[in-house]
Amino acid sequence: MENLSLETIEAAQEYDDSSDQQYHCGLQLIRELGLKQGSAVLDIGTGPGRLALHVARIIGNEGLIYGIERSPGRINIAKRRAESQQASNAVFVTGDGYDLSRFNDNFFDTVYLNSVIHWFKNKKTLLQEVNRVLKPGGTLGFTSQITNYPKRDLREIGDSLLKKKGYFDSTLITVSYPVTDEEVRKLLEQTGFVVRKTELRPSVEDYKTPEDAINNLFKKRYKNLSPSRQDEIRTELIKESKKIQIDGKIKDVRDKLYVIAEKKV
Ligand SMILES: C[S@@+](CC[C@H](N)C(=O)[O-])C[C@H]1O[C@@H](n2cnc3c(N)ncnc32)[C@H](O)[C@@H]1O
Repeated sequence: MENLSLETIEAAQEYDDSSDQQYHCGLQLIRELGLKQGSAVLDIGTGPGRLALHVARIIGNEGLIYGIERSPGRINIAKRRAESQQASNAVFVTGDGYDLSRFNDNFFDTVYLNSVIHWFKNKKTLLQEVNRVLKPGGTLGFTSQITNYPKRDLREIGDSLLKKKGYFDSTLITVSYPVTDEEVRKLLEQTGFVVRKTELRPSVEDYKTPEDAINNLFKKRYKNLSPSRQDEIRTELIKESKKIQIDGKIKDVRDKLYVIAEKKV
């Protein structure tokens, strides 16, 4: 897992600038949460707070949204954004999503995680804690990477090249902990939720040029590999990426899981 406490302001800003596609998936999720004016909402792994501030506008001044995030740089951006939008109903705190001890039992109407839960190795602990802070009947929503999607994207090609060469070292490569959609259902049932919906939807990253797609993968996932290994993999990846190019452009298609559940009453 990355150590984001050392993330620079520039890197946090760069992250923010490249998060459009994620934001659009988040907007779909938010539409399905049934948020009302006056709701108390928690966004775990809020990043730079863009989606949380969209929620702040839906719930209005009677509502309250907390965004918790382990990167202080991203929280700084979220706070500045809230200030410039005069969103006094949005509170952003640096913290770990496993530790929600600052919140009382049965406090929130809704908890959501947009593209975050696959970063949690121990999903059961997280979900138990989320269950505790949700009101009975309260809603949990999340989008997540999963493992059982058809392999059609650049990351899969890059990872299998690394594995073939024996360079896939999980201490160097930024790995997350996705599971299958069936495992997600089981975990929710074990932690006191009733599952309302699990749905796989394609999430498409449409890059301007193949180089943009490859640069993005190296920046996000392979940045800690040695420069010589990066060069070696880059050359092969450029060749291999032709398999997923359409009209000279790489379209990364990766299924994302959308989940809506409720805390058992
Ligand atoms: C892919 S980003 C999504 C950000 C935001 N939810 C969005 O929709 O733009 C995942 C975020 O989860 C945060 N994160 C991962 N694990 C976390 C943890 N244990 N506690 C708090 N935040 C975490 C990361 O720092 C990162 O900002």
